[in-house]
Amino acid sequence: MKIVVTRKIPGNFLEKLKEGNDVWISSFDRPLTEEELISNGKGADVLLSLLTDHIDGEMMDAIGPNLKLISNYAVGFDNIDVEAAKSRGILVCNTPSDDVNEAVAEHTWALLMSLSRRIVEANYATKNGAYKGWEPDIFLGTTISGKTLGIIGLGRIGTMVAKKAQGMGVDILYTKRNPDPEANSSFKFVSMDELLSQSDFVSLHVPLTDETRHMINGNTLSKMKTGAYLINTARGPVVDEHELVDALRSGHLGGAALDVFDNEPEINPELIGMPNVILTPHIASATHEARNKMGEMAINAIIDFASDRKPSNLVNNDTWDNRRK
Ligand code: GLV
Ligand code: GLV
Repeated sequence: MKIVVTRKIPGNFLEKLKEGNDVWISSFDRPLTEEELISNGKGADVLLSLLTDHIDGEMMDAIGPNLKLISNYAVGFDNIDVEAAKSRGILVCNTPSDDVNEAVAEHTWALLMSLSRRIVEANYATKNGAYKGWEPDIFLGTTISGKTLGIIGLGRIGTMVAKKAQGMGVDILYTKRNPDPEANSSFKFVSMDELLSQSDFVSLHVPLTDETRHMINGNTLSKMKTGAYLINTARGPVVDEHELVDALRSGHLGGAALDVFDNEPEINPELIGMPNVILTPHIASATHEARNKMGEMAINAIIDFASDRKPSNLVNNDTWDNRRK
């Protein structure tokens, strides 16, 4: 099988792939351009892609009729047109696991706590020599205990974020299409409007779809409590970044922490200049444990497929019976 890996991934799992396969691994320390993806991907049976690769039907056709599996080294798969894959009989896999859920949930909490206690600002000031002795009112933040965290999207990651709230003394509200019968009974299902108007912290855990694109916009932001905080470790385009800037500039929001951006890797320069905004470079899943597990899963999906076994993490399960041979 010809296997094309669009960028080197951490761990030793790529070695496993080389046994009996013709494997091409990009040597660039950056995403491939579209042209590079086509020229190196042409004729591939399998693509191991990253979330920075945009793979639509046209790209699938340019890679050619041998393409049978796209194994995406990510939990999210909004970079792949799954409908286009389905109509061509191409399988798509992703890499969800508890390791990733934990890592993203921990990063969400790290951002929440850093926001409320102004850790990043205080660190910057202290390292720059601003600390001249204890003062009664420098870097006053917000106590987290007793507050309400609203979780938009109570899936695997949202649930993990909610579980971690229990030791923190934080009440959990959540919204999703329907109440989750499996959800812990202390997590309260509410409408989106109720969640926005009652939460001191709002954290986003939805996938990016047509329905969720710019779901957080001027209108929804205006329903948030004055002084509330927004945390986004999901996908950038779930938030309209311009309208977020307006809500921060006006003082309506107390702050925001963003790991993902509307037009990644570009970042609205106004956000960069705001002291009450924390920005991290899409690293919520960046722990050794999570990234290793992602590599293992992405590679195992390919090995399973090569042995005609159904990979456990198929995104388009219904394509299995009509898969390209
Ligand atoms: C990261 O954003 C992922 O989807 O794995
Ligand atoms: C702070 O350091 C205190 O003792 O209150």
